[in-house]
Amino acid sequence: MVGSTIRVTFEEPSHLLDKTMAFKIFTNEDKFFAEIFGVDLSTSLSSTEKADLLEAAHENAVLLFRNQNLNEEQHLNMSRQFGGLETTIQRGRKRRVKPEFADISNLDWDGTMLESDSGRAIYSSANQLWHSDASFRANPPKFSFLYAEEVVESGGETEFCDERAAWDALDPDMKEKIDGLVAWHSLMESRRRTGFLEFTDGEREAFPSVLQPIVRTHPATGRKNLFLGAHASHIENLERADGARLLDDLVEFATQECFVRSHTWSVGDLIMWDNRCVLHRGRPFNATMERRVMRRTTISGDGPIVVNGRPINELVSHGALNELI
Ligand SMILES: [Fe+2]
Repeated sequence: MVGSTIRVTFEEPSHLLDKTMAFKIFTNEDKFFAEIFGVDLSTSLSSTEKADLLEAAHENAVLLFRNQNLNEEQHLNMSRQFGGLETTIQRGRKRRVKPEFADISNLDWDGTMLESDSGRAIYSSANQLWHSDASFRANPPKFSFLYAEEVVESGGETEFCDERAAWDALDPDMKEKIDGLVAWHSLMESRRRTGFLEFTDGEREAFPSVLQPIVRTHPATGRKNLFLGAHASHIENLERADGARLLDDLVEFATQECFVRSHTWSVGDLIMWDNRCVLHRGRPFNATMERRVMRRTTISGDGPIVVNGRPINELVSHGALNELI
């Protein structure tokens, strides 16, 4: 829903769940988007902290840590404690940050501000569409860790959508209709939506379209959720227009205000989210006047999504897709 602006607030301290955890956590009754207190991400996490953070992340899907102070190495070290890191798409250009970071800024490689009509600015504007990071990879990632170095005076929020609650709220007929359907995801699709069409043949080869289920079951919690976003173009075994429309309808449903939280960034904020069950998008800001400097690490998934014991894209290449449905 355009303009959804539910800002995160926390209810009464009854939801202060310090239990026996290694830190304090504020969350809400819907268990979506929690704030963590008492963890310094610049130092090595203890095994208890890591285990408790994973438990909190699985339960709440989005975790906010304020007042962190992370240089690039500390950001990388912290992230690696949760798994292997994705490297970003190089696109043959000089980069401002290391390849393990997605550069979520409006700066060019040399620190100058991007012109609004530059290729990179247009390419990056896809971040303002609802998406799950890198769902165009055959092995879609788990967590993202986005850290704020410089923030803007107004705008530039990040919104998060709970695809678990959205699935829960669908009517049973729709659940039955879509459970088992698979959608084609591609980096080209999300960039096409922004008007960016400058991919080389090599890039097209490096990122072929992949299939992902529309409904996933989270491996840690067993909860089902929708799995959607701007990289998804159409649905296998449906007419292209029908599939595209169904995807649009589902995103519109899932991103109603009741499923969305908005975060206004401060310097030192780090947000960890679970791409397996969360959609997110950045909101616009005055990108030619104000610097917004953020960097993101992304944790690789556990492997391609498996259906009936076989990787989903292998089933397709063997013409066995009907086994999915
Ligand atoms: Fe993203």
